[in-house]
Amino acid sequence: SKGAYEFYMLKEIDEQPGVMRHLSQNYLDNDGQPKVDSKIIDAISKADRLYIFAAGTSYHAGLVGKIIFEHYTGIPTEVGLASEAGYHFPMMSKHPFFIFLTQSGETADSRVVLKETNKRGIPSLTMTNVAGSTLSREATYTMLLGAGPEIAVASTKAYTAQVALQAVLAKALGERLGNKEAKNWDLRKDLAMAAEGIQQLVDGKEKLKKLADKYLVKSRNAFYIGRGMDYAVALEAALKLKEVSYIQTEGFAAAELKHGTISLIEKGTPVVALINDPVTADLTRGNIQEVVSRGASVIKIVGKDFAEDGDDIVLPEINYYMSALLTVVPAQLLAYYASKDKGLDVDKPRNLAKSVTVE
Ligand code: M6R
Repeated sequence: SKGAYEFYMLKEIDEQPGVMRHLSQNYLDNDGQPKVDSKIIDAISKADRLYIFAAGTSYHAGLVGKIIFEHYTGIPTEVGLASEAGYHFPMMSKHPFFIFLTQSGETADSRVVLKETNKRGIPSLTMTNVAGSTLSREATYTMLLGAGPEIAVASTKAYTAQVALQAVLAKALGERLGNKEAKNWDLRKDLAMAAEGIQQLVDGKEKLKKLADKYLVKSRNAFYIGRGMDYAVALEAALKLKEVSYIQTEGFAAAELKHGTISLIEKGTPVVALINDPVTADLTRGNIQEVVSRGASVIKIVGKDFAEDGDDIVLPEINYYMSALLTVVPAQLLAYYASKDKGLDVDKPRNLAKSVTVE
C-alpha cells in the first residue's frame, strides 16, 4: 500500500536504498563474492558478444549495463530496442548470449525477440522483477531483481535494480574470465555507497521540488545533456520527465546539441546537465557555457569530484561505473515534482499502461 505517500512513484523512489541493500545481500556473500548460479556464468563465459534487449526504461538500464559489462568483462556488448530487433534481427557474432531486461517480464516487444532467440538456439537470461513472468519462463536463465512490486507506471526502483544486478553479473563474469578490474572491484562497498548516496539524495528531495517548481513546471520543453555514463542517464532522465509531466523532453549527448538541437534553446529553456565522467567533465562544462550564452536555465547535477560553486546538486561520492545509480535519483525526483506540482496523476500518466503487452 501507499501508506502515508500520496503517490507510489515517490514511495518507490524512496525505497531504492533498501533495494540496493537487499540486492547486495541476495547476490553477494560476506566476502563480496557474487552469488550467481554457476550455470549462468558457464554459459555466458563462452560468449564472444553480449546482446541486451529491452524497451523504455529497461532499455536505458541496458545502455548503462553495456558500459559496465565492457569495462569489467571485456566482452563487447550491444544494446538494442526489442521493438526494432524483433523484425530486423541483428547480425550475430559466432557465440552470442542474449540478456533481456524487463521489470514486468511481459513486454510484448521483448517477447518477440526472445521467441526468435529460442528458435535460433541462442542462450538467454532474463533479468526481471516478476518471478514466473513470461520472459522469465521462456528464457534459458532468470535472475530476479527483487525490487518489490513496482506500481507506478513510471519505472524507478526497477531501473536502479537492473543497473545493480547487471553489475553483479559483470563482476561474476569478469572474475571468471580473469579480468583484473573485476577482481579488484569492491562491489559490496560500491552498492553500500550507492544505498547511502541514494538515501542522502532522497533526504534532500525538497531541493529538487524547488528546482522543479522554478524551472520545469511552467516550461513546455526541457533538455538533459551528458556524456558517457551521463548520456545513458540523460536518456532515462528525459523519459522520466516527459512521461509523467507531459513536458517535451529530450536526452542528448552533450556535444551533439551544437549539431542541430541548440537552435531550440531560448531564454529560459531548461537544460539539466549531468557530470560524472572524469574524462569529459571539462568538455561538458564547455557545452553548458554554450547553452547558457543562448539563454538556457541550467540545472547542474554533478559528481562530488567535479563540483564547482553554483552547481545545484552535488552527488555523493561513487565509482564512475556505478554513478547512474545516483545520478538518476535527482532526475526521478524532478520528474515526480514536475508532475505532482502540475496537478497530474503521477502514478497513471495518460495513454500509458504499466506493462505493454501489445507490439
Ligand atoms: O516491464 P518492462 O521493463 O519490460 O517495461 C518496459 C517499458 O514499457 C517501461 O520501462 C516503460 O518505459 C516505463 N513506463 C518507463 O517508466
